[in-house]
Amino acid sequence: MTADFPLRRTTRPVPDAERETILSDPGFGRYFTDHMATAVWSRDTGWHDHEVRPLEAFSLHPAAAVLHYAQEIFEGLKAYRHADGSVWLFRPEANARRFQRSARRLALPELDEQSFLASVEALVSADEPWVPAHGDEKSLYIRPYMFAAESFLGVRPAATIQYAVIAGPAGPYFSSGVTGVTLWVTANYTRAATGGTGDAKCGGNYAGSLAAQIEAQEHGCEQVLYLDSSDHSRLEESGTMNICLVTSDGQLITPSLGTILEGVTRDSVLELATEHGLTPVERSITVQELRDSCADGTVTEVFAAGTAAVLTPIVGFRSEELETTVGDGAPGKVTVAIRDHILDLQYGRIPDNKGWLRKVC
Ligand SMILES: Cc1ncc(COP(=O)(O)O)c(C=O)c1O
Repeated sequence: MTADFPLRRTTRPVPDAERETILSDPGFGRYFTDHMATAVWSRDTGWHDHEVRPLEAFSLHPAAAVLHYAQEIFEGLKAYRHADGSVWLFRPEANARRFQRSARRLALPELDEQSFLASVEALVSADEPWVPAHGDEKSLYIRPYMFAAESFLGVRPAATIQYAVIAGPAGPYFSSGVTGVTLWVTANYTRAATGGTGDAKCGGNYAGSLAAQIEAQEHGCEQVLYLDSSDHSRLEESGTMNICLVTSDGQLITPSLGTILEGVTRDSVLELATEHGLTPVERSITVQELRDSCADGTVTEVFAAGTAAVLTPIVGFRSEELETTVGDGAPGKVTVAIRDHILDLQYGRIPDNKGWLRKVC
């Protein structure tokens, strides 16, 4: 049954002038709106206490299971303001379903799709003034999550789970236009193994990626490219984005699902590929193939796809024994065209002929 998330409005919202200052330069993940949506699950009573309430700190017992065993999952999606002032979500049903898949993998209770959507919509409606104005590709980033709140020490699924949705304004990812990044291909760290949690969006995956991220930065790279765990020969994904290759014979190739996160942006790119004259292909790609096909020009563009940056051009790869430039080392035309296509859909600049947008208010 779909839950309602009734609003208990804050008596101390961020003053209008302060909010407008924040919205003029929000960055990412720095500021949060006035409210949060919450619900609690208990083993005995199921889901209860759904509401949208003033944003405030949680009170956690020092033995709260999440602090010890990391039983936690999250999602990330955005709300976009259109030119007429209305506010829309992009494929939130896909996030709801992925949240359920992540919950199953982490032995957490599933939140039904309609309640997930209701919680997100109730929060965005309550904090509508926080959705940046139409025009310069800002958005409201929305973070649903749930975690083991029961206080106990012992490895078993927790009997009390806290669900919450918070949100904060996000600026355009590339403040100075779309620039390309170079990925560090790590030989020392893997992100996921068969049977592990690679296809779930759980905090532990990201904690485990931080050392690799530092390694990448030490080698002058912004992001990591992970390889498979069995023989380190096949491409998996980047830290928070899926990887796609564009070939000179018109294929758009991306690694198959399995140990990677099933990105909503990845799926959107695969669906839009044909409109850009490309054949979508999901298959494994080896580092050797990447290296050879960048060298001989078979691969003309590489990009990473994810909610935060939409599409990020990948202009090179670096590892202990590899230094590869993609194309001419500049963002490619296809990458920019698909990126613009998705942004045009999200901001309502072209008709939504896929039924991907959901109006909030
Ligand atoms: C590991 C990982 N891969 C891929 C993605 C891209 O997913 P999406 O397009 O749904 O944002 C993300 C971002 O959520 C991620 O964290």
